[in-house]
Amino acid sequence: MTEEIRLNSSKLGTQEYWDNFYKKEISNFEENPEDTGECWFDDSGAESKMVDFLIDKLNDGEIDKVDTLIDLGTGNGHLLFELQEELTERCDNVELVENSKFLGVDYSEDSILFAKKIHEERDPELPFEFRKVDILSKEEQFFEDNPGYDIILDKGTLDAIALNQDPISSFDGKIGMEVYPIQVSKLMKSNSILLITSCNFTEHELVKIITNDKQNDLEVWDKINYPSFKFGGAQGSTICSIAFKKK
Ligand SMILES: C[S@@+](CC[C@H](N)C(=O)[O-])C[C@H]1O[C@@H](n2cnc3c(N)ncnc32)[C@H](O)[C@@H]1O
Repeated sequence: MTEEIRLNSSKLGTQEYWDNFYKKEISNFEENPEDTGECWFDDSGAESKMVDFLIDKLNDGEIDKVDTLIDLGTGNGHLLFELQEELTERCDNVELVENSKFLGVDYSEDSILFAKKIHEERDPELPFEFRKVDILSKEEQFFEDNPGYDIILDKGTLDAIALNQDPISSFDGKIGMEVYPIQVSKLMKSNSILLITSCNFTEHELVKIITNDKQNDLEVWDKINYPSFKFGGAQGSTICSIAFKKK
């Protein structure tokens, strides 16, 4: 049961907030194309740690397939842009990544517009696609048609979802953070990797949220280490990234 793990509701859990947020980011970008917007958890180096983690796993042979990658709640697409660039430069076996496809999804139309604009500005020939998808929607045809992605990324999206406590009627009144592992599992096939970075949950809580529904066949695979602090005798860190594998 994950009932004891609950965050307070916040405007960051609403689509209206994100639409307004990305509208502002688009207007900043139009004034200054160097300004590609917020990079969440940059102060913890989360993005480069996620990228390094995946490249190390590929170069060690622990991940052998990266044909399809999806970023859930992609925002400005920064994580995908960075990952594609670094994979191309640093992967020992170029053949493994030369045909990789990078898909970013977000429920905010403005996020998708923003990511597409940045893609256009960087190089429209690069293998990125951005699509408006609500990952908590049962109606999305997207879940029926999906091929099962090799790598699934989430930086701060489950965190945002967990800030909304509204019951979702098409999922028997479950709230977003309970629906999330069910939906994400549909995007995975055997050996797919889900790498999630969160600042709102401890490692223990994150594992509980994702693996609580034993039906989804997800298990902890590995994690990224961040500097930890000690407070009142308890050891902790302000952020965590955990990789899950589908059996
Ligand atoms: C904290 S931001 C993180 C953005 C991006 N991942 C990053 O690291 O910069 C959370 C993102 O999740 C998206 N989001 C929240 N709920 C979603 C849902 N149900 N389906 C798709 N995207 C969602 C928001 O629009 C927002 O872009």
